[in-house]
Amino acid sequence: MTAPSPSPSPAIVSVTSVSMHFGGFRALDDVSIDLQRGEIHAIIGPNGAGKSTLLNVISGLLRPTRGDVHYGDQRITHVPPHRRARLGIARSFQITSIFTGFTVHQNVQLALLAQRGDCRHPFRLTGERYRDEAHELLARVQIAGMGARMGGELAAGDRKRLEFAIALAGDPQVLLLDEPTAGMSGAEREIVVGIIRSLSAERQISVLFTEHDIDMVFDNAHRITVMHQGRRLVQGTPAAVRSDPRVRDVYLGEGDDAHV
Ligand SMILES: Nc1ncnc2c1ncn2[C@@H]1O[C@H](COP(=O)(O)OP(=O)(O)O)[C@@H](O)[C@H]1O
Ligand SMILES: [Mg+2]
Repeated sequence: MTAPSPSPSPAIVSVTSVSMHFGGFRALDDVSIDLQRGEIHAIIGPNGAGKSTLLNVISGLLRPTRGDVHYGDQRITHVPPHRRARLGIARSFQITSIFTGFTVHQNVQLALLAQRGDCRHPFRLTGERYRDEAHELLARVQIAGMGARMGGELAAGDRKRLEFAIALAGDPQVLLLDEPTAGMSGAEREIVVGIIRSLSAERQISVLFTEHDIDMVFDNAHRITVMHQGRRLVQGTPAAVRSDPRVRDVYLGEGDDAHV
């Protein structure tokens, strides 16, 4: 069942006519996309369509060749990634941010220390600073019982949940997730989907994610943007995207194999 859509509101992130060239190659070609507050928005498309590049332009990892990125009213096209994080845009989990030699609980404490700019002996954790807040964040992603385990010992799904807790330590308004359920079992996917849905519904966090599992996308996204060869092909509700013949042609395949 598709999640109920949030009521329309001004975009929290707007990407306007963005192009990203690598040498002569156009990874993004005049792409515009808006993310609403509290929205779960999926970007889908074949490999090489430009999905990760688009997330990297929004997180600040890449500076676009043309076009602009706004966060609310603020133009952030040239704002570096760490400042975007401070503004409330949490980066994707593609690059793992876990310290394997610290416990799960200490990992979240460190994230809270870093976020608060509290640099007093960051690696001498007494176990006290932000202890309760760290516990609360772990509970929110349902791994409170794993606090004493070492970060490096976690299975893939638990690791992903710890990464969520670390991202949430920054109290983000926007979460950018590049294939958040890649390599997970069905049960682990369900947990991640549940976390994404509750962040959107209960905390009004906007989630922009890429995903290969089309069923997961159509069941959970409020809106979907379909990318193809660096261009935005279609943007709309799951129902609109599902019935768009262009999507069937270029992405979902024709005939009996069409997955929607
Ligand atoms: N840093 C880079 N330098 C050159 N080409 C790149 C770079 N990053 C991505 N590309 C190319 O841009 C295209 C889009 O890549 P990407 O955004 O990763 O696609 P997707 O995530 O949709 O699979 C691909 O053809 C990829 O090879
Ligand atoms: Mg990608």
